[in-house]
Amino acid sequence: MPKITYIEDSGKEHVVEAPVGQTVMEAAVKHAVPGIDADCGGACACATCHVYVDPEWLAKTGEQNSMEQSMLDFANDVETNSRLSCQIKVTPDLDGLVVRLPKSQH
Ligand code: FES
Repeated sequence: MPKITYIEDSGKEHVVEAPVGQTVMEAAVKHAVPGIDADCGGACACATCHVYVDPEWLAKTGEQNSMEQSMLDFANDVETNSRLSCQIKVTPDLDGLVVRLPKSQH
């Protein structure tokens, strides 16, 4: 199962085994990774699942889709590597993915 590392703003790391087909948000919520609120449950309607994709992984996670871009307008401290984690599906290629969490989702 692909492993994903979530790094809190404080630097604390959480390594989670994420089933293929789940989203990066779902895997975090299932393992109680703090810092991903996911208020809308993955409908791309809240922007509280904001993460920063490690630059080395950007090619594999793909680009923000247009709905995601509009939602990211409501997030704080958006960077070029910002993604909504409910919009990133876990694939075997993402084994080893590293994402960082923002200071806050609100
Ligand atoms: S969980 Fe709401 S936008 Fe991702």
